[in-house]
Amino acid sequence: MADTFKILGIVGSLREGSFNRTLLEAAKGLAPEGMTIEITDISGIPLYNEDVRTSGFPDPVTEFGRQIAEADGVLIATPEYNYSVPGVLKNAIDWASRLPDQPFGGKPVAIMGAAAGRLGTARAQYHLRQVFVFLDALVMNRPEVMVGGAFEAFNDDGSIKDDTTAGFVREQLETFATWIERVSD
Ligand SMILES: Cc1cc2nc3c(=O)[nH]c(=O)nc-3n(C[C@H](O)[C@H](O)[C@H](O)COP(=O)(O)O)c2cc1C
Repeated sequence: MADTFKILGIVGSLREGSFNRTLLEAAKGLAPEGMTIEITDISGIPLYNEDVRTSGFPDPVTEFGRQIAEADGVLIATPEYNYSVPGVLKNAIDWASRLPDQPFGGKPVAIMGAAAGRLGTARAQYHLRQVFVFLDALVMNRPEVMVGGAFEAFNDDGSIKDDTTAGFVREQLETFATWIERVSD
């Protein structure tokens, strides 16, 4: 692959031992040549408050928006909380959605997720796709990556145990590179 792709990784969990962070870290090693994934930290983003917004965007929000804007694509690893998107992730997206030059507009996005349950965040992922409709992000449809049984899915070094699952991640990232080329100006 001749092109380079700078991908911003977003983890929808603040937990230190997050399976979704582990999944995103593992994705770094499965990315095609020329694709780099840098994981951002959304833990400093405050809870959305319209009064705060009208008096000025908090620095972590401005920085988050800059990171999205500068990336060629955004890769989100989301947990599933009560069949939906975790609040911390939705909160970060809500803040970004209010920034001037809303950074998700026209941005290529890919979604993956790991959950304890068998459906591997399927329900959360489809809710996340819905959120991105209004933001006009260019979410790639397929391949989907839904890692179920997360407690058993990773080796101690963070690599993915199952070759088939690792293959899905590799395929998603390869297709994401093609998707970015297709939809970018
Ligand atoms: C508030 C809460 C709600 C959850 N709801 C779901 C759920 O709807 N489906 C599911 O598969 N797992 C659910 N789980 C379990 C998560 O899959 C599990 O905690 C997972 O490790 C979270 O991702 P993380 O490791 O990246 O933090 C829930 C966990 C929490 C804390």
